[in-house]
Amino acid sequence: MEAKELYNETILKAYKNPLNKGKIDPADLEFGGGNRSCGDSVTYTLKLKNNKVEDIKFEGHGCSLSLASASLLTEIVKGKTIEEILNLKAQDIYDIIGETAKARSKCALLGIIVLQTGLARHQKNPKETKIENVKI
Ligand code: FES
Repeated sequence: MEAKELYNETILKAYKNPLNKGKIDPADLEFGGGNRSCGDSVTYTLKLKNNKVEDIKFEGHGCSLSLASASLLTEIVKGKTIEEILNLKAQDIYDIIGETAKARSKCALLGIIVLQTGLARHQKNPKETKIENVKI
C-alpha cells in the first residue's frame, strides 16, 4: 500500500496539528504505555467531573498514525463516561481515521488500548490513578 493511500488527510492534519497535546497537571488520572515492537508510546492525562471526562490531553512519541489516532481519540472521549469509553470499539477509530489504517492496526489502536486498559484497571481498583506501563 502506498503511503499516500494510508495517510489520508484526516491523519496528516491530526499529526501536523494535534488536538489536545500536552499534559494536565494536576490530573485525576494518568495512563501511559507503548508498543512493544517499536517502542512508540503515548500518555494520557485526564480530568473527571461527575464520572465524565471533562478534559483530556496526550503526549507521545511515535509514528504519524499512532499520534494522529491518539489525538483524535481525545476528541471522541471528551464528555463521555468511563463506561462509554470502555465500550468504544476499534471500528470507532477506523470510522474516523479511515479503513486503510487497519493495515497498521497496532499503530492505529495504540492510544485507545492504552486509555481503555488504564480506565479498566482504574475501574477495578479506584486507587490506581496512575498507570505507566501498558504494553500492546
Ligand atoms: Fe510504532 Fe506505529 S510504528 S506505533
